[in-house]
Order: sequence, then structure tokens, then C-alpha cells
Amino acid sequence: MVRTSVLGAALLGAASVLAVDPPSCSLDKKCPKEMPCCSQYGQCGVGAYCLGGCDPRMSYSLDSCLPAPVCKDKVYKMDSLDRYKDISEYLGDPKTADWVGQGEPLIYQGNTLLTMPPKSVGTVLATTTYMWYGSVRARLKTSRGRGVVTAFILYSDVKDEIDFEWVGVDLGTVQTNYYFQGIPNYTNTGNISISSNSYEDFHDYEIQWTPDEIRWLVDGKVGRVKKRSETWNATANQWDFPQTPARVQISIWPGGLETNAEGTINWAGGKIDWESDEIKNYGYYFATFAEVEVKCYRTDSPPGTNKGISYYYTDYRATNDTVVDGNKSTVIKSLLATGLDPTKGDPAKASKSGSASAAESSVFAIPGGGVGIGNPVPGSSSGSDGSSGSGTGTGRSSFCDGSSFSQDCTGGSDAGENAGVRGVRSGLGASAFAVVVGIAGLLFL
Ligand SMILES: *[C@@H]1O[C@H](CO)[C@@H](O)[C@H](O)[C@H]1NC(C)=O
Ligand SMILES: *[C@@H]1O[C@H](CO)[C@@H](O)[C@H](O)[C@H]1NC(C)=O
Ligand SMILES: *[C@@H]1O[C@H](CO)[C@@H](O)[C@H](O)[C@H]1NC(C)=O
Ligand SMILES: *[C@@H]1O[C@H](CO)[C@@H](O)[C@H](O)[C@H]1NC(C)=O
Ligand SMILES: *[C@@H]1O[C@H](CO)[C@@H](O)[C@H](O)[C@H]1NC(C)=O
Repeated sequence: MVRTSVLGAALLGAASVLAVDPPSCSLDKKCPKEMPCCSQYGQCGVGAYCLGGCDPRMSYSLDSCLPAPVCKDKVYKMDSLDRYKDISEYLGDPKTADWVGQGEPLIYQGNTLLTMPPKSVGTVLATTTYMWYGSVRARLKTSRGRGVVTAFILYSDVKDEIDFEWVGVDLGTVQTNYYFQGIPNYTNTGNISISSNSYEDFHDYEIQWTPDEIRWLVDGKVGRVKKRSETWNATANQWDFPQTPARVQISIWPGGLETNAEGTINWAGGKIDWESDEIKNYGYYFATFAEVEVKCYRTDSPPGTNKGISYYYTDYRATNDTVVDGNKSTVIKSLLATGLDPTKGDPAKASKSGSASAAESSVFAIPGGGVGIGNPVPGSSSGSDGSSGSGTGTGRSSFCDGSSFSQDCTGGSDAGENAGVRGVRSGLGASAFAVVVGIAGLLFL
């Protein structure tokens, strides 16, 4: 999900940019105060790190991340990019964009193509508002080809997740999955067959999500149901069931990238062929989105409301009783700001005072954005190996080469430092890199 090229283009010109790894974060290792926000990729920074995907549990404090814009009912006609912003251009106000993303979305014949040019890590878009239960439907055609994965998921900042995913070697099946706080469990997957080729034909895929159950539908027919009552975890004394506000995320990503873990590559149907007909004919792999529709749950009292402006967490447990639907601002004034200091770098003020001290040194401002150097973050772990054959894709966590943004690199590890970041594997991912941006440069954005 995060892209490098745009970023590079945007930032390289203006600022001094160094390719250095940002500090990593996890449940056991929260971010430092000067870079307080833990991105969905498990790395610390400011600015865009503090917006969508910022995990309050792994950040410096619960209020380091900006609150999440509340659910809005909406039909997203995917026939224009007018309401799309690259992550490097978005400051948290959902009035300014419906989708935020990284990669190469483009419009073709009235639909949005998410593309994956040769050797890239694809494209990811996320809604700027969050759903706290409700239903979301996407009308789409998948990509095809070995190792090419299409995803349509709900993904919360604390890594609750509900998925539809397609691997490009099986155009007759959609894989479904869910996670509670990113904890992998291979038994959570399930397949639904599709009545015709998912690449050739549009189909409607829908997730209906309530506090009591998740239903996955294809073309209006229920293909799978998971009840909360089936998910009691007696050890942890909680329901291992998705329950926190989540963004809708759509993506194409290279499960079959050669640098990925073997389990991931196998799950995705093999290594990607960058000289396929698809690439020869079009110049990229692509998935086609015609429409996405969100219907909020709209209860009168929490959980599941959307009465205020934003959602935020009051407790590290991050269960549905710890989410508040309130009126806090979701906006930062610059990519140097954080939830702790949302007006930092305000261009208006800076120009008055005239001094954006370069001595502010450098921080990471765009998660996953990378320039240059490769620094593979082994997708870690556990999932990687264990997933082969499981169909869960839990292993697909490892493509983090630095040549571009990466959608899936934190994934993984069940143990160790990355624990807690695994939910990312679902398709969004993360890059090992971020850009180090000089403060002066940012102000020119
Ligand atoms: C969410 O909250 C409701 C009401 O407080 C509760 O009944 C339900 O069990 C919770 N759901 C989960 C998955 O924790
Ligand atoms: C996975 O989830 C199922 C259903 O909730 C549960 O019965 C099982 O114990 C879980 N397994 C692990 C390893 O957590
Ligand atoms: C219960 O929750 C704990 C802590 O989150 C987790 O490690 C464990 O796998 C879960 N057990 C089952 C059976 O799902
Ligand atoms: C948010 O603002 C609305 C409208 O002003 C108000 O009705 C509501 O009570 C506020 N919510 C909170 C939690 O303060
Ligand atoms: C789902 O389908 C894929 C092929 O698309 C297969 O590899 C996998 O084993 C299936 N998973 C389940 C749980 O049936």
C-alpha cells in the first residue's frame, strides 16, 4: 500500500530524502514520543503514519493516532479519480477525498483499474471513512495470473479484518477470511465458488457485518456465515471476532513476488510472470472496480453508531466497548503533525513565523513510502511457512523490497517484534521504508 514512486516524485524534489528504516513498533514495543504513530505496517512516524491504519495500541499513547472519521453511507461510483488522493497528499479530512491510496489507480472505460506494473507491488486504496459494522458491496472483476492477488477487505486500525481475496490462478473461487486483532488462525478461512470467471465478468461481493455475525455474499447469495458465538476465546476471555471501526480497502498485490516466502508464493499460485500476455497486452496486471457501496450500521447507541465526527479508542483492549463515537477532529495541519500535536507544521503559521527550523531534523511521514534502497523485511514468519497449503495466505507477508511501496511486508511474525502486525498480510502492506523528510521540504508540499 504504500507507494514509493509518488512519494519519491513529490518529496524528492522538495526535500532532502534519505532512505532509512523507521523504527518498528508492536504491542510490546511502542513508538517513541518524537515519532509517536505506529502505521499499519508496524513502523513509527508522524503525518500520514498517524492517519488511516495507525494502531493506537502500538503507538506512543492511545491519542497519538488521529481519530477515525465516522461511517458515511455512500455509493462510490468508481468512474473518476477526482475523489482520490495519494497518501502523501491527504491530511485526514474526509471531505477532501473518498479514497486514499498508493500505487497506480487509473480510469478505463468508466471503471477504476488498480494496476500492478512489472516489478511493482501493486496498488491499494482505502476509504477515508470507517465502518463500525454495516455492509459493504463491491462490483468488480479480479486480476488473473500466477501469483497475482486481488483483495477487497475491511481492515481496522487494531487489525480486525474481514476479507474477500482472489488468487489469479483460480478464477472460479473467492477466499474469505477474518481476523480478530490480527491474530492468525488458519481455521478462519473459507471458500465460495463464483458462478462465472471472476476476471471476465463483474460480480457483486458483499460483506454484511453485525455484532453477532459476518455474512459473505456473492451476487446477493450468502456464501458463508461466521457467528460471533462461535468465536469465544476462554483463555483471553473475549470474542475473537472483528468488532472495531474499519476502512474498506481494495488492492492488487504480488503474492507471487519472488522475494516472498515460499508459502506465500504457493498460496498465490506460483511466481509472477512479468512477461505474461497480460503485461504484454496492457503493460500491467489489473483489477477492475465498477462500484463500491457502504451502508452504515447506524444503531442508536454504541457499538455501531455514526452520530459524531470520529471514532477513537479509550483502552488498549481495543474491543467494541472501548470505541467512542465522538466529535474530535480527524485532521492534521501538515505531514509533520501527530495526534499529540495536530497543528505542527501548519503552513499558515510557518509562513508567518518564517522559520521552519531545519533543525527539527527528520522524521518519517509517509508509511511505506520508500525511496530507493532495498531492505527486505522478511515477511516474517510464521505465517510464511505455515501457510502453504492452508489457503489462508497468512504467509504472504513478505514483499518488502524497497524499490517501491509494499503492500505486505510486515506481516507475519507471530512471535517477536512484529507480533501484532500480522493482519497486514491481508493485502495491505507495508513497506520497509519510509521517507525521511526534512521539515523544510514538507512545507512546500
Ligand atoms: C460488542 O458490543 C455489544 C454491546 O455492548 C456486545 O453485546 C457484543 O458482544 C460485542 N461484540 C463483540 C464481538 O465483542
Ligand atoms: C481458531 O478459531 C477457532 C474458531 O474460533 C477456535 O475454535 C480455535 O481454537 C482457534 N485456534 C487457534 C489456534 O487459536
Ligand atoms: C486466545 O487468545 C490468545 C490471546 O490473544 C491467543 O494467543 C490464542 O491463540 C487464542 N486462543 C484461541 C483458542 O483462539
Ligand atoms: C457531537 O456533536 C453532536 C452535534 O453537535 C452532538 O449531538 C453530540 O452529542 C456530540 N457527541 C459527543 C460525544 O460529544
Ligand atoms: C480454497 O481454494 C483454494 C484454491 O483457490 C485452495 O487452494 C484452498 O485449499 C481452498 N481452501 C479451503 C479452505 O477450501
